[in-house]
Order: sequence, then structure tokens, then C-alpha cells
Amino acid sequence: MTKINIVILAAGQGKRMNSSLPKVLHKVGNKSMLEHVITTALSLNPENLIIVYGHGGDIVKSSIDEVFVENKFIWAFQDKQHGTGHALRCALPHIDNDGATLVLYGDVPLISSSTLHHMQELYDGGVVMLTAQLNDPTGYGRVVRDEGFQIKCIVEEKDATQSEKFITEINTGFYILPNRYLAKWLNSLENNNNQDEYYLTDVIAKAYRQHIEIRYYTAAHNYEIMGVNNKLQLEYLERVHQCKLAEALLEGGATLLDKSRIDIRGKISCGMDCIIDVNCIFEGTVILGNNVTIGAGSLLKNVIIGNNVTIKPYSIIEDAKIGIDSLIGPFARIRPGTELTGGAHVGNFVEIKNSIIGQNSKVNHLTYIGDSTIGSGVNVGAGSVTCNYDGKNKYKTIIEDNVFIGSGTMMVAPVTISHGSVIGAGSTITKTTEANELTVSRAKQVTVKGWVAKHRDKK
Ligand code: UD1
Ligand code: CA
Repeated sequence: MTKINIVILAAGQGKRMNSSLPKVLHKVGNKSMLEHVITTALSLNPENLIIVYGHGGDIVKSSIDEVFVENKFIWAFQDKQHGTGHALRCALPHIDNDGATLVLYGDVPLISSSTLHHMQELYDGGVVMLTAQLNDPTGYGRVVRDEGFQIKCIVEEKDATQSEKFITEINTGFYILPNRYLAKWLNSLENNNNQDEYYLTDVIAKAYRQHIEIRYYTAAHNYEIMGVNNKLQLEYLERVHQCKLAEALLEGGATLLDKSRIDIRGKISCGMDCIIDVNCIFEGTVILGNNVTIGAGSLLKNVIIGNNVTIKPYSIIEDAKIGIDSLIGPFARIRPGTELTGGAHVGNFVEIKNSIIGQNSKVNHLTYIGDSTIGSGVNVGAGSVTCNYDGKNKYKTIIEDNVFIGSGTMMVAPVTISHGSVIGAGSTITKTTEANELTVSRAKQVTVKGWVAKHRDKK
């Protein structure tokens, strides 16, 4: 196949986004639009990838470099936006003399690699255009054809005649252009149009006049060629993107109660027989085993979940591993560094951070467990707290196997609750407990005779 350079035009400011963030850095599925386009572009294994940038350049560069640490891109600066033709001209010094150049836009995020591959297959030394048929072509450049149905030129909306405006075949702005003509074409562009811009679209007319074959391909879905100029369009493409991800999960066998009420802002994989209720959010990398049920309104970020786990509604789990047969929630919060080894129960209003919970242990109500290691067969009573922080440093709590912690116990770390210990409710534990013994630490209950009667009378 012909060797290909890819140029992504991304110098646009995006005034209508009403945002200080450069347009191409706005996100779809928690990934910047430019990141989407770069990822798709790389799937073509280009000779090189050139990004034309301008507005907010340094932020654009640094945020892309942060994501693509392994790749080296060429950055071409366009200081003033004189149009798409001028933008591509800024990339010329980096474009090879032979081969071809594929032009993409940084604000058209959902272009698919299969569409680009099809365009590449059509390329045969001439021009390949990506076009689309739109019921409402307003705003787009129109594809004008000659009597023989050959593409002749593109007319921008602002320059179009009344009859040209009726054309519903539009220019998506994506082309493959032969490098051997490119410099000549770009250097001879003129800006005598209604926008005083150097239109890249004018190279099509130049190719036509030179009798260079102009082929075209039509994208399978119109969302692939849709650009973002404002937040409405950004939200629209976010929904399209989410719907695609949800459909892929359904096709893979997951049960989603409503495919329009799931948000995947990263990657998720589901084993067999997983059920995801409405309004769940998945971030980072989430891996679900077989027979996992996720309750409504839950948020999972960078989580690995074993088989037969049930997450009840409104639970938040981040950077954690949940072992098989565990039961979590409703309203549980599992924070980074936590591992449930298996069969654990973590109930409502329980927060667990940086802790290991052993086999079949239960922490069911209103409890905080932080920087702790809990063995197997442990029961932590309601309202218990591992007091891990003294205002300066964090300390560890160790709860060994088969411990029973009575409700309302404060465990002042660093502290160890030895195996088989039973802690009386309401205790404050500051020292290692004796294994297989009852430890109680609280003032004895006393009755103060006559106190109530005396104080009541005073009122
Ligand atoms: C362009 C096409 C139009 C097509 C439409 C599809 C031209 C003249 N017109 O119009 O036929 O239907 O795209 O969306 O090409 N950019 C730069 N530097 C510039 C100007 C633009 O980098 O000086 C970048 C923008 O960031 C954007 C892309 O090029 O990613 C397209 O620019 P935009 O101004 O949106 O072009 P349109 O007027 O929409
Ligand atoms: Ca546009």
C-alpha cells in the first residue's frame, strides 16, 4: 500500500464552546477529541503524524504527550487561522514528496478506522474524498459534480449559489491527496472568497482541471463525520459514543437494563451473565467476572471484580479488587488500595480505604476501615472506626482471623486485635488484645439515685 502521511488540523479556537480549554481538548467518553482522532489515525500505521496546532498550543501538546508517551508526533504551528488550506500548508515541510497525505480534523472525534481504511484502499494516485449525504446540509461545503457525475469542485456554504445550496452531498473535509501535487496546489491557493480564507477545498477543482481522478467514499454513519463547534454538538457525540459502547457490551452478552443510561468513560469488560442496572458510571479500566450484578447509580473506577459479586445500588468503588462471592452496598464506598479477598460483605454507609478484608468477613453498617488488614471470618459491628490518623501520620490496624468487634468500637491505630478476640460494644482499643478473650474498655454503667428527680425540680 502507498505510504501515507496523516495531518490532523487542530488549530481552531472554538469560540462557540465558550470555554478557556482549546476545543480539541474537550472530551468525549473522558478522552479528548484530539486523542480519539490520533488513536484512529495510528491504526493506519502512517509514515508520520503531523498535528497542526495554534490556539492554546502548549496545553494541547502537553496533554497529548502525556497520553501518547510512546509516540512521537510532529507539531506544526499555525499562528493565525487563515483557513484549512493555509493550515495544511503549515504541515508541508514535514510531508514526504511521494506517497499520499490523509487530512483529518481534530474536532471530528468519531471517525472510524474502518472508514479510513476504506479510503486508503480506494487510493490509487489521485484524490480520495470522504463525502456524506445529509438531509440538512446547511453549513457544509457542497460537492459539485459535472455532467458525467465526476466530482468537479467543492463550494462552501458562504459562497454557494441558491441552486448549489440544494445539493445534499457534502464535503466532510477528510481527503487523501497525492503528495507529488500537494505543494504546488497549496502554494497556488487564493483567498478571494467570501471568508478571505485559503480553502483546502479548492485543491479538488485543481485536481479536476488536471484530469486527476477524484474518487469518493461515503462513511457508514453520519456521526463519523460530525464536528463539534459547541457544547450541544459535544453532548450529542458523547451520547452517540456511549450508545456505541453500550451496544458493544450488549452484543458481548451483558444485560443492560437501559442502554441509554450507562456511561463508560474508559474500558469495561464483562464476563458471562453480568447485569448492569441504570445510571452506572465506569471509569478507567473495569473488569467484571462472570455473574456480576451492578446496582443502579454505582460508580466504578479501575476495579477488578471476581465471579458472583453483587454490588447493590449507589456504591462507589475506586482502584480496588473485589474477590469472588462478595456482596457490597447499597451506599458503600470502597476507596483506593482496597482488596476484598472473597465472600466479604460490605454494607451501607461503610467506607474502606487501603485495606485488605479477608475471606467471608463482614463490615455491614456505618463503619470506617482505613489502612487495615482484616483476616477471615471477622465481624465488624455497626459504627466501628479504625482511628488511623493522629493529625499528622497514618497508622495500621490489624484485625486477625475470627475476631468479633462489638458495635461502636474505636480501634486507635497502630493496634492489633488478636485472633479470636471479642470486643465489647463501645470499647476504645489502644493496645494489642489477648487472643480468644473478651476485651471491654469502657466506664462501668452506674445508676445515680435521685439525680433526675433533683434536676427536674429545678426547672
Ligand atoms: C470545512 C470545509 C467544508 C466542510 C467542513 C466539514 C474548507 C474550506 N471547508 O469547513 O467544505 O464541509 O469543513 O466539517 O475546508 N482549521 C485550522 N486552521 C484554520 C482553519 C481551520 O487548523 O485556519 C481546522 C479547524 O480546527 C478544524 C478544521 O480545520 O478542525 C475545519 O475547520 P473549520 O473552520 O471548522 O471548517 P469549516 O468552515 O467547517
Ligand atoms: Ca467546522
